[in-house]
Amino acid sequence: MYKFSLVPGAALLSANLLLSACGGASSDIQPTPLPAKVVIGHRGASALRPEHTIASYTKAIEIGADVIEPDLVSTKDGVLVARHENEISGTTNVAEKPEFAARKQTKKIDNVSVTGWFTEDFTLAELKTLRAKERIPANRPENAKFDGQFEIPTLQEVIDLAKAKSIETGRTIGIYPETKHPSYFKSINLPLEKRLIDILHANGYRGKTAPVFIQSFEVSNLKEIRKMTDLPIVQLLSGSGQPEDFRLAGDSRSYADIASAAGLLEVATYANGVGPSKEMIIPRDAQNNLGVPTSLVKNAHAANLVLHPYTFRPENPFLPANLRKGNVASLTERGDLAAELKIFLEAGIDGFFTDDPSIGRAAMDAYLGKK
Ligand code: G3P
Ligand code: CA
Repeated sequence: MYKFSLVPGAALLSANLLLSACGGASSDIQPTPLPAKVVIGHRGASALRPEHTIASYTKAIEIGADVIEPDLVSTKDGVLVARHENEISGTTNVAEKPEFAARKQTKKIDNVSVTGWFTEDFTLAELKTLRAKERIPANRPENAKFDGQFEIPTLQEVIDLAKAKSIETGRTIGIYPETKHPSYFKSINLPLEKRLIDILHANGYRGKTAPVFIQSFEVSNLKEIRKMTDLPIVQLLSGSGQPEDFRLAGDSRSYADIASAAGLLEVATYANGVGPSKEMIIPRDAQNNLGVPTSLVKNAHAANLVLHPYTFRPENPFLPANLRKGNVASLTERGDLAAELKIFLEAGIDGFFTDDPSIGRAAMDAYLGKK
C-alpha cells in the first residue's frame, strides 16, 4: 500500500493516484496533464547517477524533470524491468557473481551477436541480487562511486516513484517507457506489449492526456499497442538503418523513409509523436558544429506529431565542437549543454531527452520565459 502525503494543488492528481494505489485499477479521474514542452530525464538523471536506478530517477525528478524514462526488458518470469538492453554486464555486477557464471551466453539480438548475461535468463528474484554500475565510467567517474549500491528496478517500482513524487512535489511526474528489442522478446515468448499496457492501465494511466508516452524503435509493436490503448505513443527514429521488425519482415524501408513527410503522415495514423536522434533535426557540419536544420520539425508538426529528440548530454564528447569548454578533448569536462538546448528549442522541438535534467530544466524555463 502506498502512503500519500497530500499537498495543496495536487488534489486532483492525488485522487486519481489514491484510487489506483488502493486497487481501483481504472478511474475516469485523470491527473493534471503534462506541460506542452517537457524535460525528459533520460534513463533518470544518468549524468549524475548510474542509469535506470531509483536513485537516478529520483535525482531526475528532484532537479526538474517532467518525465522519467525507463527502457524496458523482461525477466525470465515475465516481469518488466528497467535496463537499456537485455545483456546486463555493462550496467550491473553480474560478471562478478560466481553463482551466475554458467549463465554467460552468446546470442543473436536484433541480428547482432552479443555475449554476456541476459535478463530473460534470470528471475526477478535473481536480478534483485545484482547491483547497478556506471555504464561509462571514463566519462562519469563520479557516478562510478555509486557502483554496487542500487538494485535493478521494476516498471512498477518506477511508476510507484512517479506517483509518490507527483504527490510530494505537487507536479505531475510522467513516465516514458520504451520497449527494448520487442521482436526479440516476442520470439522467445516473452512479449512486452500486453504486459506494459496492462500495468499502465492497472495503475490508472488512461486516455490521450495521461502522463505517459510509450516509445519504441520498432513500428509493428507500436501499431499493436495502438489497438490496446489510446495512451500517447511516440515512434523513435534512428539516424541510420531500419526498424528491426522491418528487417525481419523483408521490408526495405529505412528510418529515413519513416522521417520523410509522407512517412510521418503514416506515423500519425498510430502515434502522437516522434523521438528522433537530435542530428536528424540539426545535423553537424564538417567542423562538427551544429549545421543547417532539416525540415523534420516542420514536417512532423504538419502531421500533428510532437518531437522529442534524444540525447542531450553535458560532457564535451557529446557536444558540438564549438560548445565544448575547458579541455575540449576531455572525456569528463562539461561544455555548454544549455546553449545546445536553446538552439534546439528555438528550432521548434516539444521536449527533449537529457542526461542532466537540471540543465534541461534551466534551458526550458529560460526558453519559456520563466524565472
Ligand atoms: O528513447 C529515447 C532514447 O533513449 C533512445 O535512445 O538508446 O538511449 O534508448 P536509447
Ligand atoms: Ca530509451
